[in-house]
Amino acid sequence: MPTKQNPYDSVAYPSISHSGTHPDRLATMAILNGLSPAPVERCRVLEIGCNEGANLIPMAYAIPGSEFVGFDLAHLPIERGLERIHELGLHNVHLFEGNLLGVGGELGQFDYIIAHGLYAWVPEPVRDRLLALYGQLLTVNGVGFVSYNALPGGHLRTMIREMMLYAVEGIDDPEERVSGGLESLRLLIEARPEGDAYRMLIEEQLKKMEKAGPHVTFHDELAEAYHPVHFFEFVEHARKHGLQYLCEAVLPPATDPAYRQDIRSALGEAAGNDIVNLEQRLDYLRARMYRETLLCRGERVLRRDFPADHLRRLRFASQATATPGEERGATAFTLSGGIKMESNHPGVIGLLETLGAQWPNALMFDEVERRLMNAGIPLDGEGVTLLMRLVVSKMIELRSWEAPVADALSAFPKASASARREALTRMFATTLLHGRIALEDRVVRSFLQLLDGTRDRRALLDALKAEFPDMPADELAAGIEPGLENFFRAGLLEA
Ligand SMILES: C[S@@+](CC[C@H](N)C(=O)[O-])C[C@H]1O[C@@H](n2cnc3c(N)ncnc32)[C@H](O)[C@@H]1O
Repeated sequence: MPTKQNPYDSVAYPSISHSGTHPDRLATMAILNGLSPAPVERCRVLEIGCNEGANLIPMAYAIPGSEFVGFDLAHLPIERGLERIHELGLHNVHLFEGNLLGVGGELGQFDYIIAHGLYAWVPEPVRDRLLALYGQLLTVNGVGFVSYNALPGGHLRTMIREMMLYAVEGIDDPEERVSGGLESLRLLIEARPEGDAYRMLIEEQLKKMEKAGPHVTFHDELAEAYHPVHFFEFVEHARKHGLQYLCEAVLPPATDPAYRQDIRSALGEAAGNDIVNLEQRLDYLRARMYRETLLCRGERVLRRDFPADHLRRLRFASQATATPGEERGATAFTLSGGIKMESNHPGVIGLLETLGAQWPNALMFDEVERRLMNAGIPLDGEGVTLLMRLVVSKMIELRSWEAPVADALSAFPKASASARREALTRMFATTLLHGRIALEDRVVRSFLQLLDGTRDRRALLDALKAEFPDMPADELAAGIEPGLENFFRAGLLEA
């Protein structure tokens, strides 16, 4: 009997990097919650279901002193990943074709284990083995990342997926399956009056699928298995394997109900002191669809109130740009995504301006503390609350390591070779901070390729003129400095 082809071999998955999985993110959140995880600069990282290593390879490039291991069931993605590793000459990342049902202790122990986009899409025995591997392979201070589809929001996705699957039953061709499934949703939308709640729910999900593209829709919406879980069920599952809930990879946004005192008191009594119970109740309010949960060993003692001692072990960065505020004496701080905050607090203004001048680099805690003290803000109490408020509002970013980013624009700028390799086939690149920068413009993509550290401004312009003879030279010249500044601020240029 012919064996069924792995769908990830027959239709390539647009594998990308995920900032929430970076060991620095995991270490930072672990430190905030009272753990002492392995330093990012010297750790072992495992990614399960790594596809072609699009997440792991940029990490390995940026952290040469750490070791990265990834495996995936599909053959072709691993082949593509190995080719990329070979081209970059990396020796600290190892990919292999393997089934998580068949691996174990021979891989050694890991300080960080990642499984992104796997838990919901595999059958129950595979899901169970996945968490068993975390239990078996995580070091004593290890941190695990698992992303999964959560309930109650996952019910909506199940409903849509079932309608799509019904519409394309009997169709094998991947392209026809996706187009047939999407068409069935468009018809549904057409059949409902504008402004109708049911129509709007489906429209929102259809938009997401159209944005993600047909390959993602094929694998994610039309997959054989789809198993969203309640948060409390996931935590119970992890407990079975000696693990406990640490926190999410990213703090909730400032608008999250978790920060509202009225909501917390309404839920708090019923939830008692149980964080899992409280989070589950909050998920119902959030109509939560997706989680990126961090796990650690069950016996570790956690402290979730973010005392000053935990912050002391971290670095602080801010990419907010300062402009005069609307109120007299106030300063407005804006992030690239459009998030804005205005303050007339001299301590806050001084701190954010100092951090902004350092970006993309971070400041050690001592420097931050000195600034706050100078502004008359004691760290214990007021200072910690203020810092955490700035972290929640995304004005301040916490890190646990010194990222290898440039601290100024040099005469011969060099962009990450891993990002340059990625941009050869993609419309984006992964930065040294493990963020993604969009590169939709062909001139910008070519410009990035030229930044190999051998060209000064003049050589860059000459190369651009040779590559784009039809474009006005002054236009190309005018784009160089802003282009470099953009890459520098994104964390694409190397130290
Ligand atoms: C949805 S993709 C996610 C890929 C990548 N982690 C990401 O988030 O971009 C799921 C991946 O898990 C892999 N996979 C599924 N079952 C597996 C198993 N039993 N062992 C190892 N990998 C598996 C698939 O081949 C596929 O590459």
